[in-house]
Parts: sequence; C-alpha cells; structure tokens
Amino acid sequence: MDSLILRNRKSFAQLMGRASAFCLRLLPPEVAHDLGMKLLSLGGIRWLPPYRLGEAALSGMRLQIPGLGLLDHPIGLAAGFDKHLRAPGAFAQMGFSFLEAGTITPKPQSGNPKPRLFRYPHNQSIINRMGFNSDGVEVVLKRCRALDWQQKRVPLGINIGKNRDTPDHLALDDYLLGISKFYDHAAYLVANISSPNTEGLRNLASESFLNKLASELGSKASKVWIKLDPDQSKQAFRSLIEVVGNAGFGGVILSNTHRVSEPESGGQSGQPLGHLSVQCLEWAWEVHRGRIPMISSGGILSGADVLARIIRGASGVQLYTALVYRGPWAVNEILLELAQEMRLRGIQTLKEVQGSYYS
Ligand code: FNR
Repeated sequence: MDSLILRNRKSFAQLMGRASAFCLRLLPPEVAHDLGMKLLSLGGIRWLPPYRLGEAALSGMRLQIPGLGLLDHPIGLAAGFDKHLRAPGAFAQMGFSFLEAGTITPKPQSGNPKPRLFRYPHNQSIINRMGFNSDGVEVVLKRCRALDWQQKRVPLGINIGKNRDTPDHLALDDYLLGISKFYDHAAYLVANISSPNTEGLRNLASESFLNKLASELGSKASKVWIKLDPDQSKQAFRSLIEVVGNAGFGGVILSNTHRVSEPESGGQSGQPLGHLSVQCLEWAWEVHRGRIPMISSGGILSGADVLARIIRGASGVQLYTALVYRGPWAVNEILLELAQEMRLRGIQTLKEVQGSYYS
C-alpha cells in the first residue's frame, strides 16, 4: 500500500513536471526560457511536488570525474541554460550532480538579434544563435561570491568565452581574464572555443591557440576543460585531442552544437546531434585511449543515451535539450531509465563498463 502511494506520488510529481514544461512550451522559446529561469531563481522549483530518488535508485552509478570528484551519478547541467548563474540552487534540487554556468564573456553583451532560439519538437531538437548574451564577468562574479557555493556537494563549473568585438588576435586575453577571475570560485573551468554563433570563435580550435592558452596558464591548465565542436574533420579533431592531452588541460567536453543553416541558421542540439557527439567520443578515444577525461554533451535524452556515452569512455554527461522536452524532473526520470538499462544488462556499476566499447 505504502509503495503504491509512493509510486502514485512520484507519477503525480512527474506529471506536474511535464505539465509545467508543456505550459512553458506554449510560449515563444526565449520568453519561455527567461520565464522559467525567473521562476527558478525565485525558488519556483519548490512549488512543484517534490520528486526525489532514494539512494538505492542510484546504486552503482557513482563515477569519478577527474577534478570534480566522486559524483553520485554522471548527469550534469550543460552550459547555456543558466548562462548568468541565476539559479544554481534550483538545478541542484532538480538532481544534477554537477553544474556548468556560462558562457560568460568579459564585458556584458546582448548577443544576436531576436528571434534566436527555435524548438523542433518532432525530433526533440533546438536551434539557437544566441551569440553569447552575457551579464559579463564582473556581474556574474559578484553573484558567484554571494552564493558561497558548496563545491563538494554539487561541483560548479564556469564556462568562459570571448566578446563578439574582441578580434581573434586578442581572444586569448578574454579567456585568460575569465579563467583568472573565476579560478578560485569554480570546481572547473571551460574554454568554449566551439560555439557556432560568434564569428571566428571556432578558428580558436587550433593547435597554436590551445598551446598559447596552456603556456599562459601553466599549472592552472589542469583545471581548464576544452569544449570542442562536432563539425571538424576527423584529422583536425584528432590533432586537437592530441594537443589538449599534451598541453595538460583537465579534459574535453564533447561536444557543442552542430552548425546548421536550415531551417534556421545556428547551432543544433538534441536528438539529431546525438550521433555526431558519439562520434566525437570514439574519435577522441582512438587518440588518447582513456588518458584524457571526457564529458559527453549532445543528444542525451534517455537513460540508454547516458549508458552509451559511459560505455564509450565518458566520465560524465551533460543535458540541455532534455530539460526543455522532458521538464524539470528530466534528470530523475533519466536516472530511473539508466537504472533499468543497467538491470537489464546485468551491469552492477557504471565504473565497470566505462570505456568497455573499445575492448
Ligand atoms: C547551448 N549550448 C552552449 N554551450 C556553451 O558552451 N555555451 C553556451 O553559452 C551555450 N549556450 C546554449 C544555448 C542554447 C539555447 C542551447 C540549446 C545550447 C550548448 C549546450 O551546452 C550543449 O552542449 C548542447 O546543447 C548539446 O546538448 P543537448 O542540448 O543536446 O543536451
């Protein structure tokens, strides 16, 4: 009887989560995002019936992400959702085991003209050309200091970019500034050199830029992860992975969005990005064979997707689009699916299957 009540309560919470996401999706995408973020920053997650998973549900899901520590499960929040660090507490309550805020640019900037965010529910995808709308380093740093975030509980990463009007030859300074400002306040930092929506940004995904960044950072490079795009040729991608490994960066986030020009120009995320993002893991593994930590991002919408990425060597995964289509309890729903996948395949721990695709 008790378990029946518990099950019903859970499904009611899920239903309410789905309903809230559905209502938001009735609004234009960016209005929905801004309203959702506003509600979350006001503590709105508490207005939903709680949906918590017990420890037993997470059995065997512990994974170590180098630099971030041993996490209860591998699902983190991808960059771009909480760009300005407005509601990290709410995302922790949604069950994410680690968070990434940003991309943050040195100076505040408004990004590209609207409309710049488009939903495609038929294939659970999004196209965005936000163009790094950012409150800027100083404002977000102030917010960050006021938070006094408990890094041990839910590690918080900060994703850094460059301003639109910074010429390529000065871009290094933008990254160094962002990294140095947040260095003591973040569990890890990310150099985003892979957004398709800032002209010239992807040119920074080069051997010379990464080597310069690493040499300026010195020993601090080990706390900095590099986020790459999925649109490189195999050869170019492989040499970038080699450089990341040799230069001593913390790891790679694979991948950012896929550049498209139809039906809108921008970066595509969600289901159609999945195979490219998986390919990135496979290409990277061919080069480093487990030497470089990888976080997988792109088209992760189900528990089976999470398992596929861990099997291909990821230490953790990140979601963005799943939150839009599955709602605020996406993490817990996906974790339950992951538990079921593990049971079905007789997997006791994620650790035992990590990278097993290649053996
Ligand atoms: C993003 N993403 C992103 N990435 C990043 O490094 N900095 C950013 O500012 C943003 N901004 C952003 C905005 C929007 C609207 C979307 C949809 C995505 C990319 C994101 O972090 C992630 O890598 C991709 O969305 C792929 O994951 P999903 O969405 O398929 O789970």
